[in-house]
This record gives sequence, structure tokens and C-alpha cells, in this order.
Amino acid sequence: MRSRSVLDNDVKEVLVSEEEIDEIVTRIAAEIDRDYSKMEGKLLLLCILKGSVVFMGDLMKKISLPVEIDFMKVSSYGHGTVSNGKPTIVLDLHRPDLSDCNVLIVEDVVDSGRTLKYLTEYLTIKGARSIRTVTMLDKPSRRAVEFTTDYCGRVIPDEFVVGYGLDYAEKYRELSYIGILRPEVYTHKK
Ligand code: IMP
Ligand code: MG
Repeated sequence: MRSRSVLDNDVKEVLVSEEEIDEIVTRIAAEIDRDYSKMEGKLLLLCILKGSVVFMGDLMKKISLPVEIDFMKVSSYGHGTVSNGKPTIVLDLHRPDLSDCNVLIVEDVVDSGRTLKYLTEYLTIKGARSIRTVTMLDKPSRRAVEFTTDYCGRVIPDEFVVGYGLDYAEKYRELSYIGILRPEVYTHKK
């Protein structure tokens, strides 16, 4: 594992190593290939910025089927590590017609479930041919609304994690593994 010393010091424990991430992404890509090869229409990978950008890059390289990509940005976290609840679209998808698109929403983590529930409903209204979700991580114990992800990398406990795209206050996204942040890091700043 590559060490970035300064950032590594703020991580209490590695939860998913770089090697495990690679195995997970390989497995999910094979599941997606299997399922979408039977579907009519194009596969559109919709990356939810910013946290999913690393996962998206890895996943799109491992999927064998042709894909198109797009991006949306949804803000749900106010400050710190607690969600403010209401998702707001900060960057929208600019496609006039989604009727030929099997949209696969690519997300870093499903926590309360509000973001993905909201986006699924939004894309239904926009007329997507089909909508599914893939998340690298799932924290089922944190669910505030009913939501089940279609493809999931790893179920994790209720811990605040960083790395592999996930941030705390815009830091730690570049870590190549997923780790639990030391609580001192975020409690000191409040
Ligand atoms: P939800 O709408 O509560 O499911 O929140 C999903 C969003 O919260 C994710 O896209 C992340 O941006 C953020 N989030 C949830 N848990 C974590 C975490 O442990 N670390 C970093 N970001 C998180
Ligand atoms: Mg996110």
C-alpha cells in the first residue's frame, strides 16, 4: 500500500485495502456485464460527484460492455460528519432524452439513503429507460428512508470513513484505501 504519511496518521483503521477494493470492483463489474448484456438500450454510468469519482474511474475500466458516462452533483451534507437531510441538485444532467438509457447511478456510500432515493425518483420523472444503483459501501444501520442498492461493494458499520474518493472537509479523497477517520480529527474542529 502506498503511504501518504500525513493523511495516513489521521486514519484509525484500514477498513477496505487497495487489494480488496480491486477484487470488489472486479466482482461488481462482472455482475453488471452479466445483467446489462441482456438489456436493450445503452448503459449510462452516472457518477455522483465528488465522492464517487475514483470508484467510477475504476469501474468503467472493468466493465466490458460499452458505456456512456455522465455526472451529477448532489449536496446532502452540511458540515462535519452529519447529514443535513435534504438532498439538493448542485449540478444537473444535461441530456434531453433518457428514454434509451439504462441509468446506473454510481455512488460512494449509501448512508441515510436520502440521496439515492431522491435521485432514483428524479430520474424516473426524467424518463430513464431503467434505473439501478451501485455503491462501493453501504451503511444499513444508518438508513433513515427505505432504500436498497442493486450492487454493493461492502457493507460497513456506522463509522465515518475516508479515502477512495470519500472525504472529510474535502480532505483524504486521494487515499488508495478506505479507512476509519480518527474521531479526534472531526471533534477538534467543532
Ligand atoms: P445519504 O443521502 O445519507 O445516503 O448520504 C450519502 C452521502 O453522504 C454520500 O454520497 C457521501 O458523500 C456522504 N457520506 C455518508 N457517509 C460518509 C462517510 O462515512 N464518509 C464520507 N462521506 C460520507
Ligand atoms: Mg457523495
